Amino acid sequence: MLSLNNISITFNEGTLDEKKALQTVNLQLEKGDFVTVIGSNGAGKSTLMNMISGSLKPDVGSVKINEKNVTLLPEYKRSRLIGRVFQDPMAGTAPTMTIEENLAMAYARNKKRTLKYGVSKRRKSLFKEHLATLHLGLENRLNAKVGLLSGGERQALSLLMATFTEPNILLLDEHTAALDPSRADLITKLTGEVVEQFGLTTLMVTHNMQQALDLGNRLIMMDKGQIILEVSGEEKQALTIEKLLAEFQRIRGKQMDNDRAVLG
Ligand SMILES: Nc1ncnc2c1ncn2[C@@H]1O[C@H](COP(=O)(O)OP(=O)(O)OP(=O)(O)O)[C@@H](O)[C@H]1O
Ligand SMILES: [Mg+2]
Repeated sequence: MLSLNNISITFNEGTLDEKKALQTVNLQLEKGDFVTVIGSNGAGKSTLMNMISGSLKPDVGSVKINEKNVTLLPEYKRSRLIGRVFQDPMAGTAPTMTIEENLAMAYARNKKRTLKYGVSKRRKSLFKEHLATLHLGLENRLNAKVGLLSGGERQALSLLMATFTEPNILLLDEHTAALDPSRADLITKLTGEVVEQFGLTTLMVTHNMQQALDLGNRLIMMDKGQIILEVSGEEKQALTIEKLLAEFQRIRGKQMDNDRAVLG
């Protein structure tokens, strides 16, 4: 389904600001895999998401979606295959447009060569049906401007817009981070439901380790642009925060030993 092969990205190469954001990353996802992604600030998680969505090109390596090499395919051409929700509730929706217009735009994005944002009666009832699944009453506010919605409401709408056209891949980058705990819980629950309902292949970045353990069938930990830990299935189910932290310390320690050995 998604195949990342030997991906490396370096920002500002050859300057004092050089940053190896991704270093020889390999990852193979099967259809329906739900991967939670953890790692400290600057580990390369968002860079990984940007590279999969096509907003960043790898310097080295290739990206395949459904066996097709999309490494050089621009972002707008990949958008039909990929749904995305960002950390910032302002990022995924158009604030000056209504809920209905935003949904129509997301709907049109998925159709070949159509830029008709028009809303037919049938489509309107489809939108209402989808909105009702959020349990936020948004189905009664189709004509409300999205800029007036609360952060939680906007994130719920973003999640709906990213998923109701059933993309091949769903990318979630700390999409509950800006929300209060109860709204964050709601969006997390909705995420689990929608991923399961459509069997979406999903990558979800989170700083909430418990969430990373509770959700999904696979987990990866990133550090300094590399995937340093990968667990799945029963091994993931048996994992605890304590074990995860101990593993992180162990791998980091090993890396420091290696660094020392190289430096002599
Ligand atoms: N466009 C860019 N130009 C230069 N450096 C960048 C750029 N984008 C990211 N970086 C750097 O690459 C590294 C990885 O950044 P990235 O945003 O992927 O981290 P992250 O794991 O998402 O961190 P966080 O948890 O803070 O969101 C960081 O050191 C960052 O400063
Ligand atoms: Mg990030």
